[in-house]
Amino acid sequence: MSDISEVKQRLDIVAVASGYLPLQRSGRNFKALCPFHTEKTPSFYIFPEQQSWHCFGCGSGGDVLSLVMKKENLDFGAALRLLADKAGVTLTREKEKASQRQPIFELNQSAVEFYHRALLESPEAGIARSYLEKRGIGKQSIADFQLGYSPRSGRALTEHLRGKGGTAQDILAAGLARDEGKLDLFRGRLMFPIRDSQGRATGFGARELDGSQPKYLNSPQTAIFDKGGSLYGLDKALPAIRGKREAVVVEGYFDVIAAHQGEFKNVVASMGTAITPRQVALLKGATRSLVLALDADAAGNEAVLRGIQTARQALERTQLPVPDFLGASERLQAEIKVALLPQGQDPDEVINRSPQEWERLVASALPLMDYLFQTAMAGVDLSRPQVASMVVNKLLPYIREVEGPVERELYLGKLSRLTGVSERTLMQQAALLGRASRAGASPADTAFTWRDPLEEYCLYLLFHYAPQAGETSPALFLGTENRELLGQWLASGSLDAMRAGLEPALAEHLDEILGLEERPLPPNPYERAQRYRQGVASAMPLSPREAEQALAQCLSRLQERSLRHLIQAGADLEAEGSSLAAAQNLKQLFHQRTPAHKEADLHE
Ligand code: UTP
Ligand code: MN
Repeated sequence: MSDISEVKQRLDIVAVASGYLPLQRSGRNFKALCPFHTEKTPSFYIFPEQQSWHCFGCGSGGDVLSLVMKKENLDFGAALRLLADKAGVTLTREKEKASQRQPIFELNQSAVEFYHRALLESPEAGIARSYLEKRGIGKQSIADFQLGYSPRSGRALTEHLRGKGGTAQDILAAGLARDEGKLDLFRGRLMFPIRDSQGRATGFGARELDGSQPKYLNSPQTAIFDKGGSLYGLDKALPAIRGKREAVVVEGYFDVIAAHQGEFKNVVASMGTAITPRQVALLKGATRSLVLALDADAAGNEAVLRGIQTARQALERTQLPVPDFLGASERLQAEIKVALLPQGQDPDEVINRSPQEWERLVASALPLMDYLFQTAMAGVDLSRPQVASMVVNKLLPYIREVEGPVERELYLGKLSRLTGVSERTLMQQAALLGRASRAGASPADTAFTWRDPLEEYCLYLLFHYAPQAGETSPALFLGTENRELLGQWLASGSLDAMRAGLEPALAEHLDEILGLEERPLPPNPYERAQRYRQGVASAMPLSPREAEQALAQCLSRLQERSLRHLIQAGADLEAEGSSLAAAQNLKQLFHQRTPAHKEADLHE
């Protein structure tokens, strides 16, 4: 997660604002005398659900960052630092991170090439070449994945990088050396370059070839690498994941390579751990359907189940970009399925033995709920009341999170039939759970709500295509980071000029937005439309006209959204009997919407 999202996620605007002003409760919201203009009756409102504020008197508004900027008279960076301090987020490290990124990417790329050449050419790497052959990895895969070999000497890479102008400090920061940069970190190992979604090498996994420990040594966390936030093979798998609308998640490096070699190209690896929410976040722009390949031993494991649950929550919180010049916007159903591997076997063994078996295995993956029912019921005696109650306690928390009401009821019915507990009792129990879990919601539970795809897609379009912008005012954006980027872009006129002056946290955010772009244009317009509907903004370079239309749509949706939000606030006010003239005017505004607004409405 970026610095900015992390800071926002950890803070509650109500708590921050109440440090500045005495807040009064007003229904779901809070009000106060506006600190930004003089008034006798409160028209300054805080909306906890949106984590936003708005003054009906002076018309200003925004999120927690803009509140602090305005109140303390600070610029973006200073306000971010102040809030990071409050939230206990360390920005200093992140700041170093940003300035160190570029050399680290370059060093990693040089290391990839160095290790790859060593694998192909050095006599010492014979052992690695024959190991790959034994594991059934062909020449093409070795080239595609740029597999490599790290020489045993322990200085070869460091010296090579120094020779190319790398500093010891950067080599250390890239996680490629240890002992003050005197010793290569990876020695005598088979090297797997790990890449980000854009194909840039960020780190390595390195397998032993002589029984030494650990079996796999991975790059340490660096400014650009974090194992739990990376998926092995993602850059190669993305086109197939989009095409098939499904991603298959396995554990290991070899599993990914075997799969791709067998033409199963929508496969990525979580690298040995249960899939993390950050890994899910990497996939969610491309698909909301995941198949998790679990080894048989993991099947009933509590930690694994919790991991899957987290993945599902991360997926369901995904909002797709709404902008849509082609027509309807679709909200894709999040779906997680589980494919159980044969006892004691990895995907790479299954695939090498029988591609058909792998295909069957993935095709017959069980939907998460069915899988959970199966594991909860396996080998238990439901005629014993304690057992039935245990099964209920295990399954109910999952059932109440099922998105569709119809589906949810079907699963409740199934649980009732299997355990003999009435649906009524189950529902009461589920309601109790709901209260408990909401009360105890940790900050982690609310992750992924802090980025705004609509605002970001707007910026993406502007930055990439610079279409005739029409009315693009920073005030339309709620996220201060988005306001800032837009403001600075409008002021500087070009991406490069803008980037040069950016606060590191904003530069990071800019990269995230630009990173939306990743794949070349599919030739067929129908396919482009399909991809667009899947929320893959990037899959399709737009024509200037399309970009213009897409931007117009986005902007009118932003307007629509802020209006709707204010109208809701107005309605709340009316309900309490405290009618503000400004709030009532909103209703009128709503009815004067432009045709574009109304059209957008139809597709909501
Ligand atoms: P496995 O131990 O199952 O390895 O770990 P593997 O991929 O099957 O490797 P082979 O087939 O024995 O060569 C699965 C994944 O867990 C991560 C790696 O990403 C590995 O591919 N792992 C495993 C580590 O990061 N460190 C370790 O020490 C072991
Ligand atoms: Mn294996």
